[in-house]
Amino acid sequence: VVAKPFKVDDEEDEAEGGEGKVKVTVFYGTQTGTAEGFAKSLAEEIKARYEKAIVKVVDLDDYAADDDQYEQKLKKETLAFFMLATYGDGEPTDNAARFYKWFTEGNEKGTWLQHLTYGVFSLGNRQYEHFNKIGKVVDEQLNEQGAKRLVPVGLGDDDQCIEDDFAAWRENVWPELDLVLRDEDDTNTASTPYTAAIPEYRVVVHDANTTSCEEKYLNMANGNASYDIHHPCRVNVAVQRELHKHESDRSCIHLEFDIQGTGIIYETGDHVGVYAENSDETVEEAAKLLGQPLDLLFSIHADKSLGGSVPPPFPGPCSLRTALARYADLLTPPRKAPLVALAAHTAEPSEGERLKFLSSPQGKDDYSQWVVASQRSLLEVMAEFPSAKPPLGVFFAAIAPRLQPRYYSISSSPRFALNRVHVTCAIVYGPTPTGRIHKGVCSTWMKNAVPQEKGHDCSSAPIFIRTSNFKLPADSSIPIVMVGPGTGLAPFRGFLQERLALKEDGVQLGPALMFFGCRNRRMDFIYEDELNNFVCQGVVSELVVAFSREGPQKEYVQHKIKEKAAQVWSLISQGGYLYVCGDAKGMARDVHRMLHTIVEEQENVNSTKAEAIVKKLQMDGRYLRDVW
Ligand code: 2AM
Repeated sequence: VVAKPFKVDDEEDEAEGGEGKVKVTVFYGTQTGTAEGFAKSLAEEIKARYEKAIVKVVDLDDYAADDDQYEQKLKKETLAFFMLATYGDGEPTDNAARFYKWFTEGNEKGTWLQHLTYGVFSLGNRQYEHFNKIGKVVDEQLNEQGAKRLVPVGLGDDDQCIEDDFAAWRENVWPELDLVLRDEDDTNTASTPYTAAIPEYRVVVHDANTTSCEEKYLNMANGNASYDIHHPCRVNVAVQRELHKHESDRSCIHLEFDIQGTGIIYETGDHVGVYAENSDETVEEAAKLLGQPLDLLFSIHADKSLGGSVPPPFPGPCSLRTALARYADLLTPPRKAPLVALAAHTAEPSEGERLKFLSSPQGKDDYSQWVVASQRSLLEVMAEFPSAKPPLGVFFAAIAPRLQPRYYSISSSPRFALNRVHVTCAIVYGPTPTGRIHKGVCSTWMKNAVPQEKGHDCSSAPIFIRTSNFKLPADSSIPIVMVGPGTGLAPFRGFLQERLALKEDGVQLGPALMFFGCRNRRMDFIYEDELNNFVCQGVVSELVVAFSREGPQKEYVQHKIKEKAAQVWSLISQGGYLYVCGDAKGMARDVHRMLHTIVEEQENVNSTKAEAIVKKLQMDGRYLRDVW
C-alpha cells in the first residue's frame, strides 16, 4: 500500500496549481530523445487521467544548477517518475550524468526520501553487457534512501520493441496511481481507455521572397561561446581521404574539421558530436512521398496544444529541402507512434487500417517482422502506403523523429593538431532484408564531404565536443596497453600523437603495447604508415596486429593478447592502464572475457577472485573502455 503523497504546499507550486492539487514530476535522462518522448507522453496521460495532478516534465540537467540544490529539491518531491536510458558502456546519458554521480556517490542509505513515492522506467538494449544499469541502480538507490516504490522498475529493451515494454509498464502504473491520485468520490472513470492526441505543429508557409534563416546557422562561431549538443558550432571540413586500400570493397574515411578561431577546445580521448545531413537522394524521395515541393519555404510553431512527445520546433523559415536534410530522421525503422500518426492521414481506408493494425497490440508480430526485422526505413514504410500524405506539421511533430548527432571518438590530439578535430569513420553501407541499400546518414555524408583543400565550396557541419574519461595516465611513465581493432584505433591515434608531443618535450614515456586488428593487411590496415612511424619513434613499444581474414582461421586481438598474456599482465600489475575501444557487443565483450581468463591464469586464482581483480581495476580507473 502506497502512502498518499503530501499535498502541494510550497509557494512555487501553490502558484501553479492551488489547493488540493498534487505535483507529479517526470524526470528524464535521454540521449537520442526516446526517454524524453516517453516522459512527455507519460506526463500527458497522467494529466488526462487525474484532474488533481499538476505534472512537470524535467530534463535532469535542468533540475538543479549545482549539486548542493539536489537534496533540498528532491526532499520537496512527493511523487516522481524517472525515465532513464543507459548509454555506452553502462553509463548515464549526458543530461543525467551529473545527477547520477551525485545521487549514487553522495548519499548513504537512509530515510531522507521517505516522503517520495516513485516509479522508474529504464531504457536499454539487451545486446549490451550493462543492460539497463542506470535505471536499475537509481531504482535501488531511491528505495534504499527511503523512497517508496510505486511499481517495479520497467526494463525497456530497444533490441525488441521498447514502446511495448513502456506500454506494459504504464499499465502497471495506473492502478497504483489510482490509489494515490483518485478521490473516492471521483466520477472520472478509471476504465476509460486513453488515446494520446496526435501532435501537430502550426505551419506557416512563407512566400519565396522571405529571407530564410538557413544562413544564420552557417556561421555560429564567435571565439568564446561554449558549444554543446543544443548549441553546435558549424565548422568546415579541411581534409577528407579514404583510409582503405584499393583492394578493399569497404570504405573508411579520415576527416579533419577545421576548428581554428571557433573557440572549440578538446582533449585527447574526447568525442565529437556531428550533425550530418541526409543525402539529396533521401531528401528528394521524402519530398516526393509527402507530395510537397522542395523549395517550399515554411516555418513550424508549437503554439497549438500539443499532446505527447513533441520535439522543439527547428528554426525557420527554411526550405523543405533544408528541413528534410537537417532535421528529419528518414532512414530509421519507425516506432509505433509514427504509424498511428500516418494512419490518421491516409486517404485509402485499407492503408489506414493496416497501419493501425501494425501499431496495435494484436499487430505486434507483424510489426516486429515487417518493420523491425526487415529494417524498413520510415521512407520505405511511407512508400508502401502511398495514400498517406501527412501535413508537414504532423510529419515533423509526430512522424519523423529529429535527426540525431552521431558521435565519434576523436582520432587526434590537440597537442599535435591544435586547430583540427580528426575523425576516423567506417562507412555504413549494405543491403537490408528488403533489398534496400542502407547508407548510414553521417558516414555517407563524410564519404561525400568536399574538403577545403579541394576547392572553395567545401562541406561544413555543426559539431560539438563531448568530454570523456578515456584519458592517458597523468604520469606518462606509467605503462599502457591499448586494444583497438578497426575504427577502435581512433582514440589511440590521438594517444600516440600526444605521447609523441610529450616525448619531443623531453618527457619520459613508459612502455606502450598496442593491439590492432583488421581483416587483411592489403585492405583495411588503416594508418599503417603512421603506426609504424610511432613504433620507430619509440612512442609505441610494440605493435601487435591480428589479421582476421588472411589465414585459414580467424585471428582476433584477444587471441594475440592471450599469446602475450604474461607480458600484458605484467604491465598492468605494475600499475599500468588497460584501454579497450571499439565494438561493445562483440569485440569488447570477448576481450573482457579474455582478460578474466588471463587474470585467473597469471594470478592463479579462481573465477570469483579474478572477477574481483578486474572489478578493482575498473573502479581504480585503470581499465577504461570507449565502446559503442
Ligand atoms: P572479422 O570481420 O573478420 O570477423 C575490425 O573490425 C576487426 O575486428 C576485423 O578484423 C573483425 O574481424 C574483427 N572482429 C570481429 N568480431 C570480433 C570479436 N568478437 N572480437 C575481436 N575482433 C573481432
